[in-house]
Amino acid sequence: VQVGLFVKKYEVIKTIFQNDALPMMPKHKEAEGFAPTNIALCKYWGKRDRDINLPVTSSLSVTLPNKGSTTRLSMAEDGMDHIVLNGEKILDDSQFYLRTVDYLNLFRPRSNWHLNIDITMNIPVAAGLASSACGFASLLFALKNLFQWKLNKRELSILARLGSGSACRSIWNGFVEWHAGIRADGMDSFGEPLYYEWPGLVLGILTVNANIKPISSREAMQRTVDSSVLYTAWPKKVAQDLSIIKQSLRVRSFSLLCGTAESNALAMHATMLSSWPTICYYLPETIALMHQIWDLRRHGLQIFFTQDAGPNLKIFFLEKDEKFVRAHFPTIEVIPLFVK
Ligand code: PMV
Repeated sequence: VQVGLFVKKYEVIKTIFQNDALPMMPKHKEAEGFAPTNIALCKYWGKRDRDINLPVTSSLSVTLPNKGSTTRLSMAEDGMDHIVLNGEKILDDSQFYLRTVDYLNLFRPRSNWHLNIDITMNIPVAAGLASSACGFASLLFALKNLFQWKLNKRELSILARLGSGSACRSIWNGFVEWHAGIRADGMDSFGEPLYYEWPGLVLGILTVNANIKPISSREAMQRTVDSSVLYTAWPKKVAQDLSIIKQSLRVRSFSLLCGTAESNALAMHATMLSSWPTICYYLPETIALMHQIWDLRRHGLQIFFTQDAGPNLKIFFLEKDEKFVRAHFPTIEVIPLFVK
């Protein structure tokens, strides 16, 4: 299975580099890359191709301007890759190590060529804050700088997708749509910026638990597609939500965005709850926060939440209400989305 998976990914690499440029030696001894994380307003949940991360549906996200991952690369001389994440050495039998090295294998010019990979993230790791999205995108940017690849952002988006689906949206700032595409080779499945701006739109992170989640999004997604009776309704729901969300961004209608994005996240979690064995990312604190948000909304505050593959909530509101929101959620981390 691993070999098949590699072959399919390598076909994509060959298409992008037009057969001739790989393998090649890097132009520099060290390099660095930063990629911001992104939070989906219309979720990606389910793959039509598991090997090269092709999604069943399109999705739409917003990028968090300065929150993400920085990857520094340098040559390792002792015959193996070393990964350090936020100052801690990653064990070479961990999922994180194996996924990163698998990705690196796609670009390795020689089998005895190894790297020190030093990753720093200024977001909680693996807690539903899309750390894999910015992690793979920043590794890709660092590799691009190391090898001095002449690739455009669409090509980079396709390459990032091979690491983690949502990474293809972390190539761009602002609102980003990931087109599902229909081609088997995935050359039409990439992120693209929407160029709508929404000054005054603010994101708040409500961290309930920043520990490693019990089930990865990759595994949860697959179990949902394979066993959820509700999954057949999901593509129809996404098609509707995507067009309404785009409309809401175009006209900056908070109420339209609120009703659609929050219901999209809830529907995604409903497909998980109806999987077997069931997948439940809710903790009691998650539900309590939801009720608090609904209560504030009933009292007129413009606020909604979204939730990914973890117990934490991300809330959206307007800058003018920041003081009020902070008073209700003392531990909130506030991130303006469109910095002036
Ligand atoms: O790219 P992955 O495999 O980490 O999946 C991300 C899935 C969600 O975060 C739940 C939804 C999304 O669109 O980001």
